[in-house]
Amino acid sequence: MSFSVSGTGSAYPALALTNDALSNMIDTSDEWISTRTGIRQRHVLKEESLADLAVTAGEQALLDAGVEAAELDLIICSTLRGDFITPSLSCIVEKRLGACCPAYDVNAACSGFIYALDVADGYFARKKAKKVLVIAAEAMSKLVDWQDRSTCVLFGDGAGAVVLTEGEDLLSIKLSANGDTDVMAIPNVAGNFPDAAGGADPYLTMKGQEVFKFAVSSMCRDIAEVIGEAGLSKDDISYVLPHQANMRIIDAARSRLKIAPERILTNIERFGNTSSASIPLLLDQMNREGRFQKGDILALSAFGSGFTTGACILRWSRGRSFAPRYQMACD
Ligand code: ACO
Repeated sequence: MSFSVSGTGSAYPALALTNDALSNMIDTSDEWISTRTGIRQRHVLKEESLADLAVTAGEQALLDAGVEAAELDLIICSTLRGDFITPSLSCIVEKRLGACCPAYDVNAACSGFIYALDVADGYFARKKAKKVLVIAAEAMSKLVDWQDRSTCVLFGDGAGAVVLTEGEDLLSIKLSANGDTDVMAIPNVAGNFPDAAGGADPYLTMKGQEVFKFAVSSMCRDIAEVIGEAGLSKDDISYVLPHQANMRIIDAARSRLKIAPERILTNIERFGNTSSASIPLLLDQMNREGRFQKGDILALSAFGSGFTTGACILRWSRGRSFAPRYQMACD
């Protein structure tokens, strides 16, 4: 017993920050950002909280699945940092949705959504859950240094969600971690005990070219492995949903894997890198556009700080959806 995806949802902040608008804040340009990354704009939290996004994405997924919050057996949120250190984002979501079930967060950086799917899979396998809500919600705008043009241009805020119900549609899944604090990190806020060590700026630092190389090789490795584990071949894959970190990473992996461009789904142009929210945000957008047909085989692949990676093969068994694109109240 694994699970099926019965509903999807997503949400993003009202404020769209274009590359041109960013060029008025720091020394950069639309040309530099778009040619190196494929990003044209990102959405940034201003009025809303991260919980607002997570709750909206969760509500949309429940509506899409025809599931009531009270029916949920588990809520898992993937996030680098919620609005509070405690209570967890999941607990805030649980209360606001009106659910009554265990709820906790996972943090595996940009791979967190796939890690959360794997956790959920264990509950289905042990018959501990029949309906699970997984939400990935990230406020990257609070974690980057807005004076550092080499990182702040890359990221955006958003949330994506899925409702999982009993089924057999997770065909394979693979996670990995390779501890490294040098290539990419976000230090925690300093403690306030007098003279205690620590106190680095709590903002994201990254060696971009090293991330680039790791990303391409791990995505190629992971996608090939999960396809093999599912007993499939590359030609069976209807669509690949890669982590939306950088269009050049996606293109390089696609070309090495020899997958046709039309089978690679992207929305990085509009949202930038929303960390673990990027894949479920893309999944929801494509679901609502009616892109998927019953029986389609989807390959999901992510990499993130840690380094972590996650990839899986999902069968789409719900048929084509033409649900209208959800608009946030403030959109
Ligand atoms: N605007 C204008 N110029 C810039 C900007 C900017 N926003 N950022 C950097 N530059 C300049 C640098 O100062 C440097 O100038 P110099 O040559 O005068 O010293 C020049 O551009 C080149 O800088 P590099 O860092 O070498 O640029 P690179 O070509 O490597 O591109 C990038 C940087 C886009 C980050 C690239 O390394 C990359 O794509 N890395 C992958 C990492 C990634 O995508 N991370 C985000 C996801 S991580 C995750 O999701 C886990």
